[in-house]
Amino acid sequence: MTPDTNSPNQQNQNIESFLREDRVFPPVEAKELGIPKWHVGSLEEYRTMHARSLEDPDGFWSEIASELDWMRPWDRVLEWKAPDARWFVGARTNVCFNALDRQVRGGHGADTALVWEGEPMPNGKPEVRRYTYQELLDEVSRFANALRNLGAKKGDVVTIYMGMVPELAIALLACARIGAVHSVVFGGFSSQAIVDRVVDSSSRIIVTQDGGWRRGNVVPLKENVDSACATLSDTGRDVNKVIVLRRCNNSTSWHEGRDYYWRDIVDVSSSHCPAEPMEAEDPLFLLYTSGSTGKPKGVIHTTAGYMVWTYFTARTTFNLIPDANQMYWCTADIGWITGHSYILYGILPNRVPTLMYEGAPDAPSEDRFWDIVERHQVTHFYTAPTAIRSFMKWGNEHVHAHDLSSLQVLGTVGEPINPEAWSWYHRMIGRGRCPIVDTWWQTETGGHMITPLPGATPTKPGSCTLPMIGVHAAVVDATTLEDLPKGTGGLLVIKKPWPGMLRGVQGDRDRFVRTYFDNPHGYYVPGDGARFDEDGYVWIMGRVDDVINVSGHRIGTMEVESALVSHPAVVEAAVVAMPHEIKGTGISAFVTLEPEYVENLGMNAKSLGAALRQHVRGEIGSFAKPDAIRFAESLPKTRSGKIMRRLLRDIAAGNQDISQDTTTLEDYRVLAKLREAEEV
Ligand code: WTA
Repeated sequence: MTPDTNSPNQQNQNIESFLREDRVFPPVEAKELGIPKWHVGSLEEYRTMHARSLEDPDGFWSEIASELDWMRPWDRVLEWKAPDARWFVGARTNVCFNALDRQVRGGHGADTALVWEGEPMPNGKPEVRRYTYQELLDEVSRFANALRNLGAKKGDVVTIYMGMVPELAIALLACARIGAVHSVVFGGFSSQAIVDRVVDSSSRIIVTQDGGWRRGNVVPLKENVDSACATLSDTGRDVNKVIVLRRCNNSTSWHEGRDYYWRDIVDVSSSHCPAEPMEAEDPLFLLYTSGSTGKPKGVIHTTAGYMVWTYFTARTTFNLIPDANQMYWCTADIGWITGHSYILYGILPNRVPTLMYEGAPDAPSEDRFWDIVERHQVTHFYTAPTAIRSFMKWGNEHVHAHDLSSLQVLGTVGEPINPEAWSWYHRMIGRGRCPIVDTWWQTETGGHMITPLPGATPTKPGSCTLPMIGVHAAVVDATTLEDLPKGTGGLLVIKKPWPGMLRGVQGDRDRFVRTYFDNPHGYYVPGDGARFDEDGYVWIMGRVDDVINVSGHRIGTMEVESALVSHPAVVEAAVVAMPHEIKGTGISAFVTLEPEYVENLGMNAKSLGAALRQHVRGEIGSFAKPDAIRFAESLPKTRSGKIMRRLLRDIAAGNQDISQDTTTLEDYRVLAKLREAEEV
């Protein structure tokens, strides 16, 4: 393979090792893993299905959609006028109905739908709850009625800020049931992040819990909601109702008339709540994600297309089969798209039990995940490369202590996986046999876009392999948008609409068009660089915009910069990605200070660094804290005043010889100084 010189950015320093990787792992026989069959059993079958899905999308998607339940059939499968797609036009359905009622009506009410394990182990015993489809349906219906009783209507936005408890799943499904639009805010976000999202989405109801467990500590969820509500009410945006689930029994303040305990309102509600017939394009949820500019944007997903896409991709990518003793576990948090699509919406309609775990992988010890796999006989395990790198670091003894022979299919998502981590995952967790599906996709795509299919696609460590059935992917020149030859890096685009694509950005049509469809062909532009190899395999080269993937979490450099600049000590801040052993990419910040802070910096640099990290934590959340901070007299800029981020990236990565042309630098000394600046 030829080394790529066109890397659109330098975020992924480990790209070099990708390019040296040339091992190929052919798929194994289904029966070797104790699986009845592969849904797609050969590369040829994949190619035939892929070709048909693009040539005859109407026929193809009609067939898939017909496997689900509809309250009214569609008149047309697709109306496409870029950038606007309407799928299953004229149809009515309900996503919650397809997840739950469909299984109950099919005679599977007593089958396990959801298995939950809590983090704390009282008396050394895990706390486990199991819900059958019938039980989940009853709980969801009760909560749906409770929401209605508090005034939630179809189309209202319900903000959900919780930990990984079963009630989180119940809350999402209940919203879907009555047609309320959920907007989940990951429990690791700060109260300021709640404020931003509540304002942007005009939400008046928040569902939360007293506290969430994290490594034995209590995350003060209700307290964060309270301070968000206080800020909101200062600006006249009152939140009307806050529903509080008790989990940690930590003390919280109470606002009579606004706050309601979950149990108090659910216990008095009926478990009869017919699912609302939703129009195909009615919004299902908003999920905020970071972009290169401004505040996070609320990605809009709608009902029918998202439902069909997650159902189909979950089944196909993971080879889900009902009644085959499968136990599927995705370790993501429901606060991110991976949890939406592949803990709930894609899995439940496939009638395979989905497992939810509340806590951290190292609580109480570093073998917790493998203990869960063994005890619950997990067959499907879906996690992020950053987690895999942590497992590697913690040592193989934690894996050896458990019997992982139940595992069939392994998955990864969120960031490129380095071949070393891939190989370890394959060998140590997959016994050298389980296929690994490295799934490339985004909040905006709703579901898997480029991924191996476990029975069909030979895998290459570090490549997410081939486009999903239904996906027309290409690598083009960033300026001309012409297809590039194999081996050349460029911009990844999706040329045709697919059912799970985003339908908009909340309240900002212009941003939707500009960010994703700013080209005359109506191509969807995801913001990642990639190249095809000689076999047509896709190698993702990381973001081409100012988004950093930290441990698989998307963070806009601008968000972190704004957070830093809002601290009184800071004049200017520039944030870039840096290579990080565990996180894949970390955050490196270059900061200039107000004069009074510069004076005593020598002594106080470390404590100021700590203060700035704390500040970012308060503004965004812990996961956005910079890994490295450098205090600088000034930042390198071009004559026109643009910060030279590529240069900063080189410095952050510790590259000795800065290869770039720096003649446009306003002041050469800035560069020398920056390189001398100590990292805190
Ligand atoms: C990155 C997560 C390489 C990519 C589902 C994308 C990946 C961003 C992979 C979306 C992968 C996700 N290989 N990179 N398998 N999966 N990414 O919206 O840069 O949180 O654009 O969705 O993560 O992140 P998001």
